[in-house]
Amino acid sequence: MVIESGKTRGPRSTSMWWAAALLASALSAIVTPAAPAGAWATPTIGTRRVAEAIGDRIVRFFESPEARAAAPPSVALERPFPALGPALADFDVSPAFDRVQGLPRVTIAIARGTSLYGTGEAAGPLRRNGLRTVCWNFDAYGYDDRTPHLYQSHPWVLAVRADGSAFGVLFDTTARGVIDLARGIQFTGSGPPFAVIVIERDSPQEVVRALADLTGHMELPPRWALGYHQCRYSYFPDSRVRAVAGGFRERGIPCDAIWMDIDYMDGFRCFTFSPSGFPDPARLCEDLHGIGFRSVWIVDPGIKAEPGYGVFDSGTARDVWVERSDGAPYRGRVWPGACVFPDFTMRAARAWWGDQHHAFLARGMDGEWNDMNEPAIFGVDSKTMPLDNRHRADAELGGPGSHARYHNIYGMQMVRATREALLAERPARRPFVLTRANYIGGQRYAATWTGDNLADWSHLEDAIPMILNLGLSGQPFAGPDIGGFGGNGTPGLFARWMGFGALLPFARGHTGKGNISKEPWAFGPEVERICRLALQRRYRLLPYLYSVFREASVTGLPVARPVFFADPADPRLRDLDDAFLLGGDVLVRAHVQPDGVFERSGMPRGDWQRFDCGIGDTGERDLPDLYLRGGAILPLGPVIQHVDEKPLDPLELVIALDAEGHAEGSLYEDEGDGFGYREGRFRLSRYVAERRGDRVSVTVEGRSGALPAPARKVVARVLLAGRQARGEADEGTPLEVQLGGR
Ligand code: GLC
Repeated sequence: MVIESGKTRGPRSTSMWWAAALLASALSAIVTPAAPAGAWATPTIGTRRVAEAIGDRIVRFFESPEARAAAPPSVALERPFPALGPALADFDVSPAFDRVQGLPRVTIAIARGTSLYGTGEAAGPLRRNGLRTVCWNFDAYGYDDRTPHLYQSHPWVLAVRADGSAFGVLFDTTARGVIDLARGIQFTGSGPPFAVIVIERDSPQEVVRALADLTGHMELPPRWALGYHQCRYSYFPDSRVRAVAGGFRERGIPCDAIWMDIDYMDGFRCFTFSPSGFPDPARLCEDLHGIGFRSVWIVDPGIKAEPGYGVFDSGTARDVWVERSDGAPYRGRVWPGACVFPDFTMRAARAWWGDQHHAFLARGMDGEWNDMNEPAIFGVDSKTMPLDNRHRADAELGGPGSHARYHNIYGMQMVRATREALLAERPARRPFVLTRANYIGGQRYAATWTGDNLADWSHLEDAIPMILNLGLSGQPFAGPDIGGFGGNGTPGLFARWMGFGALLPFARGHTGKGNISKEPWAFGPEVERICRLALQRRYRLLPYLYSVFREASVTGLPVARPVFFADPADPRLRDLDDAFLLGGDVLVRAHVQPDGVFERSGMPRGDWQRFDCGIGDTGERDLPDLYLRGGAILPLGPVIQHVDEKPLDPLELVIALDAEGHAEGSLYEDEGDGFGYREGRFRLSRYVAERRGDRVSVTVEGRSGALPAPARKVVARVLLAGRQARGEADEGTPLEVQLGGR
């Protein structure tokens, strides 16, 4: 029995809820009725509302006890979080439940000065106040900030109050939903009852950490995945792949991975290879490995419906396809023509998917790219499957149900299957999976990119806030198609995009079919020079970046963070769309406007010292300005062409002393792949710098992990107003820098 608007109605079966969801999708344009200016009228809190604590200052709300009983299991949460008891009466945030046109709606009032973020993958500004985001995974080629829904769904809002304290709200439903931030926080769902989970903390950082504790942490990626990636739709044939990879090495432009898009397949049949273009993929992988390149290969969910094609035949025999409402396998058109689609909500289908990987991965691919997994279907207005298709989901996800119910987690369950497949085949290696579609919590399985953007300035400008809001929604490993996917763009646009794109967590250049070449050298020598510098910077920063990724995997903090993390109570920092913090210590200020428009974004209070990477990277408008937090030590490595080229030697420590003449910073190192770090095979070093008179001593004050201290040179570079002082020593011996020196 479910309570609606204070009236008791008869029991409704789950399928009736989803029938309502189908209707809701038709009504999606009108689910948020126009309201007068000012705050929303918050519905009265009914006495039947359930408010249960599931953690320290984390409360799960339901509309009523009946709603609690009827809610399906959470897919967002990594594991069930049993109620610990009733919520404390003084809990600040109070969701009110009501219904609009039969749909469940939740309203949360916000105080003046509250800034709203999160909502997952959305184009437009970082601060989301006043905006609407529809949670509905969608093939959104060429989207802009008016596109209601992109490829992923994160029914989640982070609210930062004027005093810098914060709360987060997770609307725990897989159904289509509308997040409306016009006058507060309002969410209108479309399926059965769902929980509203509120996290209350003293800072936004603490909220994001708690979100990861609930929805899961990104696992530490293999170190090569932090290098630069080069992609195109498509490099064809394999000789072109070799030429592009070789082009990086000949020109001294760092790169770790080259990507195979759909044309490597035989007629777009997944797990096959074009006999003319890619006759010997194992040899290709081997040759690429020989020059320090990894390869990532695309695999889409649509399986060509063609008797005689082994993957289709075995999937049919194992009965793994998503079904129509009448029980027959559903067919939809994608790249190969008519396709069937694995029902990844079933363990049996994920196991079958894993089996397909055995022979495939034997060729030596290093990573997998899962695309079109909203799932995207050609030739239909909805761009996806009929909502009454049937998934035979396992009980852990809620049991059999309609596509309306499982649509938003189709991509998530696909990358779950792919990650399981990679781990099963190579238990000693860290999987790398990239996905286009996902759902909140999906950082457990895959990294992501922001889909089919366009080669123009507005998409360049969107890149930073999109990556930041993904990070604030639990996904730390994300990046845009550097240079833009659709269209050619201009040399100036490309250089600028590479300038800051090289410093985002996931750095991959990609472009669509028919476009001009977009490798870093394709736009001539001047753009090539900028791209080389941008990528050399990334590789110089790699020891720090890897340490930040490790921190993200442990704490749930994003890799790229909004500048307001430096001072959450400073209202000037709430809207910065052109700058970000890389970890806690480096501030990156990009120039996201075309030449001639001289914008300047704000800086956090405190001492932030401008620095460069010592490669001639100062004074270039196409490269972002870099600042180091006063009190921080930044570990840099030598310029390398790929992550395994040579060991970290010398280690360079860039030091920004605080007002007391003190600085410290951490460096995390491990084998770069595999899981030895879980058994202690890592080294975490805390470097401390202390000024005494005109000398700065640099020491290692804490070291954990079983890897011994390496034999290497350590170079210290102390940033001083307008100049630098250097010193060097062997690791483990006293290191002093004379400030009076050069
Ligand atoms: C989709 C992807 C794009 C890819 C193309 C061909 O449009 O978003 O990145 O290149 O499909 O596979």
